[in-house]
Amino acid sequence: MARTITRSNQQFRKALTRLPLGVASNFRYWGPEKTIYVKRGRGARVWDIDDNEYIDYRLGYGPCILGYADPRVDEAARAGMEVGGVFALATEREYEVASRVAKMVPAAELVRFSNSGTEAVMAALRLARAYTGREGYVVVEGGYHGVFDAALWYTAVEGWTPAQGDPDLLPYSEGVPWLLRSLIYSVPLNDAGKLEAVLKNHAHKIAALLIEPIMGNCCALTAERQYMQDVRALCTRYDVLMIVDEVKTGFRVARGGTQELMGVKADLCTFAKAMANGYPISVLAGREDVMRKLGNGVVHGGTYTAHPVSLAAAGRTLQILDDTPALETIAAYGRALQTGIGRILARRGIAHSFVGHPSMGGLFFSETPPTNYRDWVNTDYTFYDTMAPTLHDLGILCEPDSREPWFICEAHDEACLAQTLERFEKAVDMTLRKLAPNGMCQA
Ligand SMILES: Cc1ncc(COP(=O)(O)O)c(C=O)c1O
Repeated sequence: MARTITRSNQQFRKALTRLPLGVASNFRYWGPEKTIYVKRGRGARVWDIDDNEYIDYRLGYGPCILGYADPRVDEAARAGMEVGGVFALATEREYEVASRVAKMVPAAELVRFSNSGTEAVMAALRLARAYTGREGYVVVEGGYHGVFDAALWYTAVEGWTPAQGDPDLLPYSEGVPWLLRSLIYSVPLNDAGKLEAVLKNHAHKIAALLIEPIMGNCCALTAERQYMQDVRALCTRYDVLMIVDEVKTGFRVARGGTQELMGVKADLCTFAKAMANGYPISVLAGREDVMRKLGNGVVHGGTYTAHPVSLAAAGRTLQILDDTPALETIAAYGRALQTGIGRILARRGIAHSFVGHPSMGGLFFSETPPTNYRDWVNTDYTFYDTMAPTLHDLGILCEPDSREPWFICEAHDEACLAQTLERFEKAVDMTLRKLAPNGMCQA
């Protein structure tokens, strides 16, 4: 039966009268006849309000690491509810969860909680400035660090050519003050030489380097291990704090995040999504001498910080991720999915490659994946863009924007895998037929 989203469309028109774009976040708007409203999620599956069922590979942009409505985490959250609310006072569980974070992430000597990834990264940057007494910061092209003004800048690579010099860095939103531009230095991923040149000339004005070693918002473009080690060494040599943003990768790609995978220790690091299976909580963690500036000159806090419900959910989620093979199960599914997808594409002579980590993998329709954002813009994403709506129609929920990796959770099981591969094969053939008149993407 063909998928219809009549109710979602009705809901959209109604919601539009009260909510800009009819949604609560710009990124949830997929277009006037395409925006989906969710009824519920269970395990790895989501149902929209038209009762269409999807196997979900978005997982809310990553938080749902165990599966929707995971009974173990929800039971803990209900116990958190029994605590009674927020008190503008501390509760005991803060220490317990902070200790678990410290156990899993060696860089997390001290820990502070916030509610969202944005808040954690914002606090990290402020803390770095306070600690170093400098205001500038380095970002990596293609990275995303949340919706605060200092982070809402993007590298304008569309239409750019290397002959023009480095690409421009532009505000990603109206309302972001131009004033901030003078504080930002931008470098391409996997080019330690470029970073060194920036630090050599400007380190005296730079507080920190902010990096997402697997770019969860840029098709999972991945830093090479050697590059990360070089970045670590350069930050140390030039006395610039290394902030590793693990909001998407933390407690997902490994117990200790990308830092464990790449053998580096950040000065400060940020976590959010996977740490509470979807309950709102985030972490700013790092070196003791830096973190002790909090409350000693640097403001950090918030009414809902370390909310007992989220904190209890985080405690239970982290315990499961730390003490059970959940992450190994997730990675194994990701590998099996990539192998299956690879076979389907190879049988049709379609060039492809995977990047990132099996638990959050990016798919490229080229034999060699890009190594940074400048290359990414030259990749052909027509095939993906054409295929994504077909996958939705077939009940596979992936992000329509090819920059978002496919996320895996523990609840993705054998049935999900078999159904996904069968439908993916169908979608590939439908896409080939759609694109055939132009002869695109065919070997
Ligand atoms: C790497 C990274 N940092 C920060 C953020 C911001 O997190 P939040 O959306 O919870 O504010 C995101 C969100 O996708 C992210 O991927």
